Amino acid sequence: MDKERKLIIAGNWKMNKTVAEAIDLAQGLKRELGNLKDVDIVLCPPFTALGEVSKVILDSTLRLGAQNMSEHNVGAYTGEIAAVMLKDFSVRYVILGHSERRQYQKETDDLVARKALTAFNGSLIPIVCVGETLAERQAGQTENVVGTQIRGSLAALSKEQAIETVIAYEPVWAIGTGHTASPAQAQAVHAFIRRTLAEIYGEPAARKIRIQYGGSVKPANAHELMTQPDVDGALVGGASLEQRSFVDIIKNSI
Ligand code: PGA
Repeated sequence: MDKERKLIIAGNWKMNKTVAEAIDLAQGLKRELGNLKDVDIVLCPPFTALGEVSKVILDSTLRLGAQNMSEHNVGAYTGEIAAVMLKDFSVRYVILGHSERRQYQKETDDLVARKALTAFNGSLIPIVCVGETLAERQAGQTENVVGTQIRGSLAALSKEQAIETVIAYEPVWAIGTGHTASPAQAQAVHAFIRRTLAEIYGEPAARKIRIQYGGSVKPANAHELMTQPDVDGALVGGASLEQRSFVDIIKNSI
């Protein structure tokens, strides 16, 4: 695929997999995908499996991501994980502001913005998630909601940091529901996000920023979604938990 931006496909394992299961999946993925160079592949296991998965994928092109991180660097924050601790396991990426965290942990754009800056200060690349609910879409509020999330969640970053950031557009109504956004629906919001980024950082910078689609991505819909002009990858939940389906998503996307 000849896009100016390199495709980035991440598997968000969410709260799934014991360490043994995670090692097993990572080994299988490494066997099938571990030499691919024309797509960035990121595995995001739960914190407890980062250490072992890191060892499995060490000598491969697969990269490691975490699913969350504290906005603080160190100190009395019970239950939190700092960027420097993720670096212990050679983590490169960190998912921030996933809609499940926005919903269940009440994460706000302001918090996500602080986490994104902390991530860069700790040499991690944030994958910043945005997306509207079904009610917001039906009320014609998609652009309002997503535009506000983009401006708020990236507010603390410099232009150079924004260029490195990965955005994940994940309509909440498509996550884990089997209702994928149509390629045209995804493209329309991705193009809107890029226009918003161009307003903030200028056109040349906006052209460099990678925007993933997430929400019920499967082998059968991956190709059509990934070939949309402003879709630069995928954040995959359920279908990343099985070796076969994650491998097929990657193979159908490149
Ligand atoms: P899903 O999840 O692929 O299971 O819809 C995507 C996500 O939440 O990142």
